[in-house]
Amino acid sequence: MRLQRFLARAGVASRRGSEDLMTAGRVTVNGAPATELGTKVTVGVDRVAVDGKTVALDQGAVYLMLHKPAGYLTTMADPQGRPCVASLVPREQYPGLFPVGRLDKDTTGLLLFTTDGDLGNILLHPSHHVAKRYLALVDGTVRDAELEPLRAGITLDDGPCQPAPCRILDHSEEACLWPDTASAEARGRAGTATGVEVILHEGRKNQVKRMLGAIGHPVLLLHRDRMGPLELGDLARGSWRMLTPEEVDALKRVSSVASDPAYARDALRKDHA
Ligand code: URA
Repeated sequence: MRLQRFLARAGVASRRGSEDLMTAGRVTVNGAPATELGTKVTVGVDRVAVDGKTVALDQGAVYLMLHKPAGYLTTMADPQGRPCVASLVPREQYPGLFPVGRLDKDTTGLLLFTTDGDLGNILLHPSHHVAKRYLALVDGTVRDAELEPLRAGITLDDGPCQPAPCRILDHSEEACLWPDTASAEARGRAGTATGVEVILHEGRKNQVKRMLGAIGHPVLLLHRDRMGPLELGDLARGSWRMLTPEEVDALKRVSSVASDPAYARDALRKDHA
């Protein structure tokens, strides 16, 4: 979109007035002055500012996923200045962006962000049933039978967990997931390690780590690659992307059924079957 059209649509000035602002050197795109009247911008990607103030089009709600790297807190601000996910997403273009749920500092993977408070609240509500897939590398050699308590619904210190489908990953899945040297070191420290998949419909604090710790296999590395209809795919670590319209529709569909009490009861019955 031409910059003067963008400015006019954002309500900064008329098309002509916007051109005047540009030629006066008061408009920047990604920090660089944009005085050329032919300048084009990509909505949602380029950062446009007038007199240093960011200008955004009212584009409705925004939905994006981040591939969270290890070492970042899931918060939009940390008073102690530690690295947090806010620095990895376009928060200035989209004021009000917030993470839906949280991953621990050392957990990697799919983290959903939105400016849609209603959808966020539904997905965060304890009664929702959006399945999340976690892949854990745990200390020791795990036998399938050891996962039975998790499948049945293990009780932790804050109460019983819902039954969680889980399985041991095969070696090729494990190698794809944790190919880097940091993982090799974690594995080396542990002596033996096993990859385990856990599907959760809940979101209690440190839940996967506590569940696997409770069966005697502390988590070395933890990654989330699916959340409801969303899949991380090959999104690079530390990168974000907008959800496609199809993904947003699918998310809205699951959240509308998840907030329906009849669905929640039905899903519970299925979980316990
Ligand atoms: N469970 C955990 O233990 N940690 C996470 O980050 C997510 C789920």
